[in-house]
Amino acid sequence: MINKCLFPAAGYGTRFLPATKAVPKEMLPVLTKPLLQYGVEEALLAGISNMAIITGRGKRAIEDHFDNAFELESQLIETSKEHLLKEIKEIIASSTFTYVRQNKMLGLGDAILTGKPLIGNEPFAVILADDLCDYSDKGIIANMVKIYKKYKCPIIAIEEVPIEKTQKYGVISGKILEENSDLYEVMDMVEKPSPEKAPSNMAIIGRYILTPDIFDILKTIKPDSNGEIQLTDALRVQARNKKVIAYKFKGTRFDCGTVKGYLDASNYFAKKISL
Ligand code: G1P
Repeated sequence: MINKCLFPAAGYGTRFLPATKAVPKEMLPVLTKPLLQYGVEEALLAGISNMAIITGRGKRAIEDHFDNAFELESQLIETSKEHLLKEIKEIIASSTFTYVRQNKMLGLGDAILTGKPLIGNEPFAVILADDLCDYSDKGIIANMVKIYKKYKCPIIAIEEVPIEKTQKYGVISGKILEENSDLYEVMDMVEKPSPEKAPSNMAIIGRYILTPDIFDILKTIKPDSNGEIQLTDALRVQARNKKVIAYKFKGTRFDCGTVKGYLDASNYFAKKISL
């Protein structure tokens, strides 16, 4: 029922300059795998094989990564290094990739709206590859797809964060949906509130299941004080008019949009494979 996953990947990645001057931040590797590939693998595990990627100027490496590389592959064939391309070749064989460029940096809401021609009129998943999540089962998006199938409304992933960090996230207030569950009905949500103004410490993390009415709502959202159109503001309208469910993620997440989070992720995955 959820067939497509949107990956906003147009941002400049200024926190990683100069590394991101010519290399898209989504292509920075955690160990040997680019961040975006982790996201694509998570979507595939949820049974989603159509990847819709929002790119921008200077991001062509993303398209090349998810495409065959004949010279390289023929060089490695029947050598001891052939296995190094096995995973990415399987991904390419089992997925389709479509792209659209966001030509103005007007925030996450605008990036989602830019993806409308790739998505059409159906519910879809969104993965922000910066938020790298480790999982033991089928992954956070797979869990959210299951929840969507039951409730048929937008689902957002949340995590408790220290209250002094609310300014980095969209923050929700919600009431528990079912006794002992990880699900909340969203009552309100605010983008990057100060700790004093935060409705709780439950922060939105970069995984969403959205319904296609979000596109029309996004068109009505006014830019914030930084000139950005926030997805959180559009979801807030949906939460008021119908139901939006927040799913509390319990696994391990790294904010690879920061150098510290990126380093922590690299160390964590290195330890995991006893590198
Ligand atoms: C975006 C969203 C924010 C969310 C965050 C998760 O912010 O706008 O609501 O909490 O992703 O990573 P960004 O990190 O792009 O500034």
